Amino acid sequence: MFIIRNYRYNDETNVIDLWNNCLTRDPINQDIFHKKVILDENFNNELCLVAEDNNRIVGFILGMSRKYPYEERGTEPEKGWISVVFVDKDYRFNGIGKKLVEEIEKRFINMGKRNITLASYSPNYFFPGPDKDVYSDSIEFFKKLGYQELGEAVGMDMILYDFKIPDEVKEIEKNLNEKGYRIETFKKIYSLPLLQFLQKHFPGGWVRNARNALIKNKGEDTLLLAFDKNNDIVGYCQRAIDDIEGHFGPFGVHENLRGQKIGTVLFYKMLFDMYKRGIYHVWLAWTDGDAQRFYERAGMKVNKKHAIMKKILNRKGDVANE
Ligand SMILES: CC(C)(COP(=O)(O)OP(=O)(O)OC[C@H]1O[C@@H](n2cnc3c(N)ncnc32)[C@H](O)[C@@H]1OP(=O)(O)O)[C@@H](O)C(=O)NCCC(=O)NCCS
Repeated sequence: MFIIRNYRYNDETNVIDLWNNCLTRDPINQDIFHKKVILDENFNNELCLVAEDNNRIVGFILGMSRKYPYEERGTEPEKGWISVVFVDKDYRFNGIGKKLVEEIEKRFINMGKRNITLASYSPNYFFPGPDKDVYSDSIEFFKKLGYQELGEAVGMDMILYDFKIPDEVKEIEKNLNEKGYRIETFKKIYSLPLLQFLQKHFPGGWVRNARNALIKNKGEDTLLLAFDKNNDIVGYCQRAIDDIEGHFGPFGVHENLRGQKIGTVLFYKMLFDMYKRGIYHVWLAWTDGDAQRFYERAGMKVNKKHAIMKKILNRKGDVANE
């Protein structure tokens, strides 16, 4: 008979081993476990639970909620996330996963949370939602527990061997230059206007990603900016937000200037800069819709598909009709 209890520090090796057996597409090591779980500023031991059977760890769940504001999103007091949940293959279909989720939901309700999202806790998410190919079974599991599938997010990648900026993109850049637009590598003097541009035009996580790179003195290596003829920043492209060199994004252009191919030039210049640095594989973890089509046109391929899943809890923990 299994029990559910709070995670203890000496469960670490067993939890990491079980994680790597269960979440085979998203393996972690001790460093990542510490960085993204234990040392996350919002980590709460009351929301980090294991299932144990005869001293053996057979399941794990990590819930997250904000103690600290996430830029302008604040502490999102009604929101909770289930970052990951997994159960030992030999112990599945015994109600362990269900019990782990129900226990976390109970604790969320006691904390006043109503909106529960799977997986996509920013900034330290492991994937945007259950993987539709490799963990597709878990989608059924979550549906049974009242979670609704609201959409899809994809991961994409591309090999950069022999990468060249196409002639037509060079031509587009020339035309943009004639209109007074230019692409430049970040310089420290641009710190303030960059942060202000991101704050005004993009979600909170973006300004945070840029600020972290600047604090680590990585701006010159990992950021490209687009300027208009007044020297105002109108576009931005970043890579290596988590220090993984080939990790592309975020990437965005001022909403009034979209459709003029500023993004295309930023994108190709960033990829060429990566290629020159010996980075031969570019990937991104989370995109959808128009952005996905943009990357596809540029040659990137979908390598992961994730279900975006949420549940609204009422006080009793049932799904509310909203
Ligand atoms: C998803 C997972 C945690 C489920 O754990 P579990 O302990 O086997 O699930 P439970 O026994 O508690 O199942 C609860 C309900 O979901 C159903 N269910 C569980 N797995 C299912 C599956 N693969 N297909 C269809 N239904 C499933 C059960 O039949 C049960 O239904 P019931 O209440 O009507 O009896 C487990 O399969 C797992 O670890 N998968 C790999 C990791 C993963 O994908 N995690 C999710 C990423 S966030």
